[in-house]
Amino acid sequence: MFASKLPEVGTTIFTQMSQLALEHGAVNLGQGFPDFLPDAELMQRVAEAMAQGHNQYAPMAGVPALRQAIAAKMTALYARSYDPDTEVTVTSGATQALMAAILACAGAGDEVVILEPAYDAYVPAIQLAGATPVRVPMLEPDATFAGYRPDWSRVQAAVTDRTRAIIVNFPHNPTGAILAESDLDALEDIVRDRPIVLISDEVYEHIVFDGKRHLSLASRPALADRTFVISSAGKTLHTTGWKIGWCCAPAALSSELRKVHQFMVFSVSTPMQHAIAAHMADPHAHDGLAAFYQERRDYLVRGLAQTALTPLPCPGTFFLLANYQRLSAAPQDEFVRWLTVQHGVTAIPVSAFYGASSGAELEQPRIVRLCFAKQRETLDEAVRRLEAIRI
Ligand SMILES: Cc1ncc(COP(=O)(O)O)c(C=O)c1O
Repeated sequence: MFASKLPEVGTTIFTQMSQLALEHGAVNLGQGFPDFLPDAELMQRVAEAMAQGHNQYAPMAGVPALRQAIAAKMTALYARSYDPDTEVTVTSGATQALMAAILACAGAGDEVVILEPAYDAYVPAIQLAGATPVRVPMLEPDATFAGYRPDWSRVQAAVTDRTRAIIVNFPHNPTGAILAESDLDALEDIVRDRPIVLISDEVYEHIVFDGKRHLSLASRPALADRTFVISSAGKTLHTTGWKIGWCCAPAALSSELRKVHQFMVFSVSTPMQHAIAAHMADPHAHDGLAAFYQERRDYLVRGLAQTALTPLPCPGTFFLLANYQRLSAAPQDEFVRWLTVQHGVTAIPVSAFYGASSGAELEQPRIVRLCFAKQRETLDEAVRRLEAIRI
């Protein structure tokens, strides 16, 4: 027939685990989305937008009011001004913005650096662009530092004359790692005087805990001038199924991104854009989100104290990593299946965020990812089942 462009892509572990969870009636802390409703007023606004006649194609770059709201938020939070007309593009979730940005800037012969563990959308997009993914492992937890963190010296070492882009994702899925000013300094040093574009996946930008704040690449002019800053209403407004995301980038980058966007989807859901624009008219509309999820994180951490799972630090996102070495010596894949089938709780192996050839499987830490964007009752039931495990 024809050669597959993505020969290594099969059913993802996320789908497999959700299927297994269903078959065994397991509490699913694997899936990375909320099991509760978005704001009632926001849902009402969608109905109103439809009734007002906003049901046909939106402008290619997005509904102007939404682009203005996004630009206002970027200025308020990160002190970077983006022109809504030429520098803000509304996409079908962050996923499509990522694909469009990667297709726009990378091609055959180019290398794109990613930090592993990495969200699963990056590598296939790089491969479809005809470019080569270069995987750089993050530092794993050790005696001096309890969480994962970027290893900038290895990123620096991975950069070559062929490096076209570096993709970063902070707050980070799956590890919850966030950026410090020193990380931005390191990144600035790496890209200085090099024709490298940055793609910054910031979908968890509003979910940073313990009084810290998200450091967007938009907040540093030297970085912002070469960065596609990508975010999504999905994680912020509990609306992952609405698939509204966006990309803010300097006009020259945005213009190339729009060329791809125009022929991938042309434009995205009109009533949703109107509703989100009205909601975001207040640039601080999402201010309570970090406290909301911090409370849930702490709730799950307290619950896990009664179990044999040991949580790792979780500075951001709605994912908590947990070490299971007191419970099992099995590799991650085997452990998550056992946990689902025998004990009715589903988690995601961190190994799923590494490429098969990256060697992560050689000596895996005994760590899995749990999602706490769940109702208290869901978390309670998961903890009850984990507590009941006798080994
Ligand atoms: C790091 C990261 N980037 C992008 C996405 C996808 O965002 P969207 O649903 O807006 O396409 C996700 C969703 O899980 C994610 O975790």
